[in-house]
Amino acid sequence: MENLQNKNIVIGITGGIAAYKTIELIRLLKKSQANVRVVLTPAAKAFVTPLTLQAISGNHVAESLLDPSAELAMGHIELAKWADLVVIAPASADFIARLRVGMANDLLSTLCLATSAPILLAPAMNQQMYHQAITQENLATLQTRGVRCIGPNAGEQACGDVGKGRMSEPAEIYQAIQQSFVEPDCQGLSVVITAGATREALDPVRFLSNHSSGKMGFALAEDFAKRGAKVTVIAGSVNLPTPQGVERINIVSAEDMLEAAKKMAPHHDIFIACAAVADFRPAEVCKQKMKKDPKMATETMTLTLIKNPDIVATIAAMQENRPFVVGFAAETQDVADYAKDKLVRKNLDMICANDVSNGKGFNQEQNAIQLFWKAGETIHEKSLPLASKLQLGNEIIDAILTQFKK
Ligand code: PMT
Repeated sequence: MENLQNKNIVIGITGGIAAYKTIELIRLLKKSQANVRVVLTPAAKAFVTPLTLQAISGNHVAESLLDPSAELAMGHIELAKWADLVVIAPASADFIARLRVGMANDLLSTLCLATSAPILLAPAMNQQMYHQAITQENLATLQTRGVRCIGPNAGEQACGDVGKGRMSEPAEIYQAIQQSFVEPDCQGLSVVITAGATREALDPVRFLSNHSSGKMGFALAEDFAKRGAKVTVIAGSVNLPTPQGVERINIVSAEDMLEAAKKMAPHHDIFIACAAVADFRPAEVCKQKMKKDPKMATETMTLTLIKNPDIVATIAAMQENRPFVVGFAAETQDVADYAKDKLVRKNLDMICANDVSNGKGFNQEQNAIQLFWKAGETIHEKSLPLASKLQLGNEIIDAILTQFKK
């Protein structure tokens, strides 16, 4: 992971109870010898004191846009220029909205407008506020402009609600900060990644699908792109903004995904099959919405399914211009054994075994992976413990690069 020594990091704190966790984040940054300057919004001062933050960061804490003494030491424009990275933790719904519209009515928003440094947000708010369409839209817009987000996590909230809106843990934000400084070691590489769930139509309004959100595949895409690779994602049902610099092909069914994969794979160095592809599709797709027969005596209905093509196996079987092929294996039992079987049977170069029992993996912020790859007759393995999907993506890429270069 990236060394943060001598990196100039502005930590912006907005008003939210999670602000107390930012003190630990600053401690972690100081421990790795980063230079930290803290900027507080007026609302943040209700949760953490400038004195504490000054003691932890070792620097004067900036609080006001119109503070003559602060302007004498390091003015807000100088601070904006000084920063290698601006981290807003916690980032409140209000601050996210103001950032989106380009407000400059306090020191932190002005600094964000004046800086050319990348911005990383760690949103934290009540789960209802987080799920509001306007908050989601604000975040999506900021992300398309290159602002990165870490979290929020789901769980119990200070207000008593349970849901998504808790600020990521300091260690997770710290890792995301490290990722902001990654070297472009994938320049010249091209990668195709399948992500999300396929949908197999039953009729014009119904389909068979699964819970894949595309987060793991998009995290890999974001990480690869940040490291300088040319990245194409073939996305099934994915309700996420496209990471910056990534080309996106939207598809619906497994057959669509296969077509896109066959077209893309020969022109790319690496093919990663992270999508959760439906193994079967309805044998017949009704042209009109299927109706319940009111005269039907039985309470059951039988669907006939036919097997979908295996996309990753098709790509791995290519005779010409075959890319390095990485599969995933989502299993709820005997995870390692099934994954190793898929590695060999589908002729993959590497497989990421994903234990998805008890709600793990699918549509989660975090994931854990066991990697397997072949070297002659021997199968090697490496465990990547639970981490944010971005962090995990980076570690998977490190492992892929080691094998790909051989
Ligand atoms: O999207 P998220 O919510 O972030 O969740 C991530 C994930 C759990 C979906 C992801 O980490 C994962 O494990 N993806 C693989 C899911 C899967 O369908 O696994 P599988 O064991 O059924 O398939 C094995 C491999 O064959 C996979 O690489 C799959 O993409 C591929 N496959 C499967 C069927 C098919 N017809 N064609 C395929 O290419």
